[in-house]
Amino acid sequence: MGIAREMQVAVQYMWQHVQWIGVKGYATKDAFKGIAITEMKHAESIAERLFYLGAIPTTKPDPIHVGKTLKEMITQDVKDEKNAIDLYKQVIELARKEADETTAFLFMEILKDEEDHHDTFTTLLEQV
Ligand SMILES: [Fe+2]
Ligand SMILES: [Fe+2]
Repeated sequence: MGIAREMQVAVQYMWQHVQWIGVKGYATKDAFKGIAITEMKHAESIAERLFYLGAIPTTKPDPIHVGKTLKEMITQDVKDEKNAIDLYKQVIELARKEADETTAFLFMEILKDEEDHHDTFTTLLEQV
């Protein structure tokens, strides 16, 4: 579930960071880099939790969409962050239903980051 997605966006943002050349995208370049690292940590935290719960975490990321122009890149990223927010809200609800407070708490922390990312990308998109 979340791991494939986290690995996807980690690589996606890293590649967007690497491929972006231009003066206008300078702030975006740093944002890609910082957020890519956060996504990697998300993948790791979710994998650790899953392993603790007795499952084997996937090693396969979801399809990666780098995009060609800066606008294309950030438009995709806003979408991916929105999907992450929706998914993790569901995970939190499910974890609470099963009285798994630790999982709920972990995903609440991650959700906070995704909302930040969504906000960052939305703001950046207004500037391109
Ligand atoms: Fe994430
Ligand atoms: Fe994110």
